[in-house]
Amino acid sequence: MSNDQPVKSKDDTSGNNKTQIGQGGELHQLADGEHALLTTNQGLPLADNQNSLKSNPSGPVLLEDFILREKITHFDHERIPERIVHARGTGVHGYFELTHSLQQYTTAKILTEVGEQTPLFTRISTVAGGSGSVDTPRDVRGFATKFYTKEGNWDLVGNNVPVFFIQDAIKFPDLVHAIKMEPDRGFPQSATAHDTFWDFISLTPESMHMVMWIMSDRTIPRSLRMVEGFGVHSFRLINENGDSTFVKFHWRPKLGLQSMVWDEAVKTAGADQDFMRRDMFEAIETGNFPEWDLAVQLFTAAEADQFPFDHLDATKLIPEELVPLQVIGRMVLDRWPNNFFAETEQVALPIT
Ligand code: HEM
Repeated sequence: MSNDQPVKSKDDTSGNNKTQIGQGGELHQLADGEHALLTTNQGLPLADNQNSLKSNPSGPVLLEDFILREKITHFDHERIPERIVHARGTGVHGYFELTHSLQQYTTAKILTEVGEQTPLFTRISTVAGGSGSVDTPRDVRGFATKFYTKEGNWDLVGNNVPVFFIQDAIKFPDLVHAIKMEPDRGFPQSATAHDTFWDFISLTPESMHMVMWIMSDRTIPRSLRMVEGFGVHSFRLINENGDSTFVKFHWRPKLGLQSMVWDEAVKTAGADQDFMRRDMFEAIETGNFPEWDLAVQLFTAAEADQFPFDHLDATKLIPEELVPLQVIGRMVLDRWPNNFFAETEQVALPIT
């Protein structure tokens, strides 16, 4: 816009010139102290973000128009690439409350201060589908929880199946390529019932335990509020004397484990492809806050040496008859995000 002609006031008679009209008829906001200012992302007051700076009315846009460049750059970054796995996720804020201290085993305050409520964010997802895929395919559900503890963030993941496909993480890219849609046709978008998957499974005997769980009712849950979360891996707790104890984490939904039958899941997918996300949203908005118990299996290295299997092998579980579960706390999800993209999509969570 050239400055040949002065801007005219739209409301000269009131003596309160809130808006001015520029040469092209565009409205300019004035900083009158009554309304929130339009600003750049850096907070610089701005009269106009609807007209770019040009060398003349029909001329080229000038690179020096940093307001235009800021607006377009911001727009270009409004999306992040979707996750390779677990792209379809639903996140909710909540808190964790410890009910049983693990002081004997660890110095981490979140696991030693009974009654302390720690804020958290949990994102529950399918594994195979893209971010716009249906909510009800036969697929493992998993969730990652970020605890905002006084001592820093602690991330913990759980899948609703207690074992994993592979023993060696180097096979993970091959597994995921096999799970994802067939490379030539781009489908199926969110389930594993296709050739590349069965080809991989047939060549990977250690995956058979996981396949048995995948074919169970667990992988067509009725609600995200009704899925268990198994940490799968063993972790280590260290106490103040430096003694180490192995731990496996288990989330158990207070609503219990409930599933759909296949026919229900298929019909639900057709009637409402956002079924699980909507169910969670409506539960939170109506105050039906879902809860999970956090339970642990604790064992020493000496005890682990006596197990007839390697507990560090993710294709094996530790039977509860061998190492019983102890409930140590609960998670309550009670606040839906304000901004799905900023909170649910951009949250950075662990990869295992
Ligand atoms: C071979 C081992 C594994 C590898 C290499 C692996 C890799 C990954 C990757 C690359 C992501 C996507 C991260 C992102 O883009 O934000 C992811 C997400 C996830 N993984 Fe794994 N994974 C493994 C095993 C597991 C296991 C055993 C579990 C369950 C206990 C698990 C649960 C999850 C969950 C819940 C997420 C989603 C986190 C979110 O909501 O963003 N993964 N994993």
